[in-house]
Amino acid sequence: MSTLRLEDLKQYSDALRTRQGEAINVRFVEPRDTEELQHYFRSLSTRSRYNRFFGAISELPKGLLHDFLQVGERERFTVVATKMVDGFETIVAEARYALHAETATLEFGLSVDDRWQGHGIATALMKNLECRAAALGAEHMFGDTLRSNETMISLARKSGFAFVNHPDDWKLVRFDKEIAVAPKDIPCASWRLAALSRQADSPSASA
Ligand SMILES: CC(C)(COP(=O)(O)OP(=O)(O)OC[C@H]1O[C@@H](n2cnc3c(N)ncnc32)[C@H](O)[C@@H]1OP(=O)(O)O)[C@@H](O)C(=O)NCCC(=O)NCCS
Repeated sequence: MSTLRLEDLKQYSDALRTRQGEAINVRFVEPRDTEELQHYFRSLSTRSRYNRFFGAISELPKGLLHDFLQVGERERFTVVATKMVDGFETIVAEARYALHAETATLEFGLSVDDRWQGHGIATALMKNLECRAAALGAEHMFGDTLRSNETMISLARKSGFAFVNHPDDWKLVRFDKEIAVAPKDIPCASWRLAALSRQADSPSASA
C-alpha cells in the first residue's frame, strides 16, 4: 500500500461499537503490544486457538509473533481491537489481513477473546476490514475456516459471504465476498486517507 504512512500508524485507527454500544478501538498493532498480544493468544480457549490457527498451539510461535508485529511488510497487516478494562487498554480481538494485489483480493483471519464473543465484535470488525480492503483496492475479501467451525460459518453467512471449497484442503471451507463500500460513506479512516491521497495525486482542474 503505497499510501500507508508507517511512521504514523495511529491515524488508521477506527472506533467501533459492540452490539451493546460499548466502544472498541481498532488500530494497527505496535511493538509495544508484543507482550499483550502473546498474552491475548495464551488466554484464548484451546478451541478458539485451534479454530484460529487450524492446529493445537498454546501461544504464537516466535516466528509467527514476529510476523504479526510487522505492519505493511509484504502487504500484510495486523489490527488489534482494544477496550478499556479497569483503566487498561486490553486486546479483545485481533485480525490479520493480506492484500493479494495480483487478484485484487484481501485474505483475512480473526479471533475474539472468549469472554467477549457473542457481543457483535467480529461482525463489526469484519465490516471494518471490508472498508480497509476497499481502501487497499481489493475487490473481494476471503477467509478460510475449518468445516467444523459452525460459529465462523454462521457469522460469515450473516455477513454476506458465499462459500466455496478450499482449493487444497478438504477440512477447510473458504468464504468470499465482493466488496461494496460506498465512497460517500467514508466508513473507516483508511478509506478517508486513501481518498485524500488520491485527490492529492490528481488535483482537479479547479483546485
Ligand atoms: C468466530 C468468532 C470470530 C465470532 O466472533 P464474535 O465476536 O463472537 O461474533 P459476533 O458476536 O459478531 O457474532 C456474529 C454471529 O456469529 C454467530 N455466532 C456467534 N457465536 C456463536 C456460537 N456460540 N454458536 C454459533 N454461532 C455463533 C451468530 O450467527 C452470530 O450472530 P447473532 O448473534 O446475530 O446470532 C469467534 O467465535 C472466535 O474468535 N472464534 C475463534 C477463532 C475463529 O474461529 N476464527 C475464525 C477462523 S479465522
